[in-house]
Amino acid sequence: MEKILLMNKDIIKENRIDSINYSLADFMDVENHDIMARARLFKEYSNDLFERKHAQYRRVSINGSGPLMKVKDDYTGEIKEMIYLASNDYLNLTKHPRVIDAGKAALEKYGSGAGSAPLLGGTFDLHIELEQKVAKFKACESAIIYTSGFGSNCGTLLSMLGKSDIAIIDMLAHASLIDGCKNTNTKVFKHNDMDSLEQALSKVKDKYRTKLIVVDGVYSMDGDIAKLDKIVELAKAYGAYVMVDEAHATGVIGKTGRGTCQHFNIEGKVDIVAGTFSKTLGSVGGFIAASEELIELLHFYSRTYMFSTGMTPQAAGSSIAAMEVVEDEPQLREQLWNNIHYFKKNLIDLGFNLGDAETSIFPIIIGDDLKVKDMCRRLHEMNIYVNPVIYPAVRKKASRIRMSIMSAHTKEHLDTALNALEQVGREYNII
Ligand SMILES: Cc1ncc(COP(=O)(O)O)c(C=O)c1O
Repeated sequence: MEKILLMNKDIIKENRIDSINYSLADFMDVENHDIMARARLFKEYSNDLFERKHAQYRRVSINGSGPLMKVKDDYTGEIKEMIYLASNDYLNLTKHPRVIDAGKAALEKYGSGAGSAPLLGGTFDLHIELEQKVAKFKACESAIIYTSGFGSNCGTLLSMLGKSDIAIIDMLAHASLIDGCKNTNTKVFKHNDMDSLEQALSKVKDKYRTKLIVVDGVYSMDGDIAKLDKIVELAKAYGAYVMVDEAHATGVIGKTGRGTCQHFNIEGKVDIVAGTFSKTLGSVGGFIAASEELIELLHFYSRTYMFSTGMTPQAAGSSIAAMEVVEDEPQLREQLWNNIHYFKKNLIDLGFNLGDAETSIFPIIIGDDLKVKDMCRRLHEMNIYVNPVIYPAVRKKASRIRMSIMSAHTKEHLDTALNALEQVGREYNII
């Protein structure tokens, strides 16, 4: 009988691999199996996931992002309309007329693509306008734009930090930040724990050329806010720099939606402000805002910028308009926050554990992978679109249902979702 060593455990391969006893993490590496053999084993796992109706991934929408989403059901083949609680399109700008019109105008004027890398012809006046707008929005001297937020975080960090440097990184920082630190030294501190950060900083004192604290502004799986004011103080005291990823903060927090720095009234005090156009701003692409000197360095050393074609004109045009809408239409953010308060209060009253959620992202922390997958299947059947998030996307025993809400959700949408969540929560003894 064949013995296979998966990432975490030995298996004797007489039975098929199932999705109850194995997890995604087990197939990260399979000893003595090449990539094709590893893929075959993984396919056994994912087939089992599908058979158990636990495959709630890559569900196909036929109408795009919105409070109600039309989804092709993988199991029945039917198109069903679901209350969509999984979007990062927090202000529904993907469907905002100004954002769409600006994208169309850019498409008409410049065509469908940039045609070249930014250093070699792929920079249009529209890209410069977007860079300037980002720099102003984030209160920094200058900005650089990339074709994805993942690419901007990862590429920037890889180009800045090497073997003589260190990243002091929050344990729940986004994957793009973690991957960007692969060529440097890292010290991980406990999530949003300032004592743990200070301890880490005191240990690395005077040992490295560059010390960079790396955090999310709003954490994508927990919805809590980094203690950025304290982080900036500690950085100053220990001679470190700070990089914050504003992916889920932009448009959501801060008096006028400018993100975490505005929320804490420390605009202009964070060294590197990263973000993405793909969430509240409703398009696609990423950015880094920082000093003019650092941005100029990134133009020539950040490989995900240099060796990648410039952002599509449509994305650039739409992103400029989206930033204007964030500033001109505060009522969208007000509506979002009304929804956040309403949904949160009701979930807490029902007895769900939301961890430290403070923003438009709501985890229902359950800690049992199988229950999470079953509950998401039940909610899918009830036309409520939420996502199961299990290890390795979150820590072991911290598996959860992840939800996010938008300004365009009505009270009726939220009430329907709350009723379904209550019913399923009781079925599974979560509340
Ligand atoms: C915190 C955070 N940073 C960066 C990214 C990457 O952004 P993008 O989707 O634009 O590549 C994401 C998206 O998943 C995110 O959640």
